[in-house]
Amino acid sequence: NSALKPVQELLQNGVVPQNYIQQFQDDSQVGDYPLPLMDTPTIDFSLLLLSDPEELAKLRTALSSWGCFQLVNHGMTIKLLYEVREMSKQFFKLPLDEKEKYSSKGDSLEGYGNDNAIRQGNFNWNDKLHLQVHPEHRRQLEFWPEIPQHFRTTLHEYSVKTKEVSESLLKAMARSLKLEDNSFSELWGDDKEDIIHARFNFYPRCPSAKQVVGLNAHTDGSAITLLLQDKEVDGLQVLKDGQWFRVPIIPQALVIHVADQLEIASNGIFKSPVHKVVINPQYDRISIAMLPLPNPEKEIGPLKELITEERPQLFKRLKNYGEFYFKYMARLATMERQIDMV
Ligand code: SIN
Ligand code: FE2
Repeated sequence: NSALKPVQELLQNGVVPQNYIQQFQDDSQVGDYPLPLMDTPTIDFSLLLLSDPEELAKLRTALSSWGCFQLVNHGMTIKLLYEVREMSKQFFKLPLDEKEKYSSKGDSLEGYGNDNAIRQGNFNWNDKLHLQVHPEHRRQLEFWPEIPQHFRTTLHEYSVKTKEVSESLLKAMARSLKLEDNSFSELWGDDKEDIIHARFNFYPRCPSAKQVVGLNAHTDGSAITLLLQDKEVDGLQVLKDGQWFRVPIIPQALVIHVADQLEIASNGIFKSPVHKVVINPQYDRISIAMLPLPNPEKEIGPLKELITEERPQLFKRLKNYGEFYFKYMARLATMERQIDMV
């Protein structure tokens, strides 16, 4: 069993273990290096639902430049967002033996723990609770915390809302390219077996914050990512044109990333941004990433409508998403592109 001690438990003698010390290439990798803010306009979900032409144009620009934006008026109540953040904090605050009731087993992605053992390279200063929330019949409830008390019902509610918002977003994204509404649903959403993963992240504060990294630079392997950030402690950074930017906190917003599957399906029109997380020396940070992804049997590749003479096919077609995912996990620790080009 290669389970590692949770990061949260590592500082008892005040020393960061060597595995976690990063060899940074340049100062900008360091937590408090003054970085510019990502300055994309927020996107108003309620206007996307109305097919507002200006909002669709803003969406298209955000997706093809940053690959990342903040979504407001998404219909999830402040109360729900508050509860999701609060139950995450409460879960990671539980005593270790309580959390370990939900520990990952074997190679399973699901459950509580430190998943550095499945990564290559230097370790991340991050503990996680990973739960597949969709399809409902594939939930493994033995990994779903019963404390705090409302965890399961709140996560269920959040999953239902996430599915609705994701479906509408993918439609709006297709519309922004003047495609049929359901063009991206074949990627995610049109099949009962399509998946949503929830990843609860906990980034314990670290007095040597400058020497560690919360999450190494990576792109997401899903279709899109809906990220609920901590409402007080920042740490997420996005790479654009060789420069790192800090993603500001907008408490009522969801940060939306294009992820690899949407970059592939859009034949490279939308960008799956490289991002990472830095650690705060004084404050713990949480985040909750919801990851809609194709079921493992699905063929993936660029939409035929988006392959033209001016824009030849950029990415390989793969027989199934499972094949992509296998390679993705193997390369997660590197900054290489995760996607096979033609
Ligand atoms: C992630 O990259 O999935 C997590 C980002 C964050 O914690 O802000
Ligand atoms: Fe990510």
